[in-house]
Amino acid sequence: MERLTINGKTIEVDVDPSTPLLWAIREQAGLTGTKYGCGIAQCGACTVHIDGRAVRSCVVPVAAAVGTQITTIEGLAAGGVLHKVQKAWVDNEVPQCGYCQTGMIMAVAALLEVTPTPTDADINATITNICRCGTFQQVREAIHAAAKA
Ligand code: FES
Ligand code: FES
Repeated sequence: MERLTINGKTIEVDVDPSTPLLWAIREQAGLTGTKYGCGIAQCGACTVHIDGRAVRSCVVPVAAAVGTQITTIEGLAAGGVLHKVQKAWVDNEVPQCGYCQTGMIMAVAALLEVTPTPTDADINATITNICRCGTFQQVREAIHAAAKA
């Protein structure tokens, strides 16, 4: 048993400590907004925050997340109010199939915490998430919109 704090709630997860955090989030905590894409830290679909930093949860062992504050897409909106990144996503109609989008949004929310008005070069360097639907231009526009919000 390991104890994890996810979206402010501490839960016990019955997994081997080496289990990827992604599976504890999805299968033990039941938070299925975080997606599995590649399993090798390449696509970003599994992005969550650990202590405010974006991480790819498919390659973070549960043991490394014990004692941290984990935030998933389900915990991003505070008090029922959309996070400014979520709102920009809606306003700019970013998602297509949606599969990659929770990871995109979590990566962008973490970027804006450290770089509130990112340049295109900042975005290119940081938001390396893969979208099979090719929403990259809408993602870029929504990032700039969120930065102005
Ligand atoms: S599933 Fe984690 S980076 Fe692709
Ligand atoms: S919106 Fe379909 S994979 Fe990105």
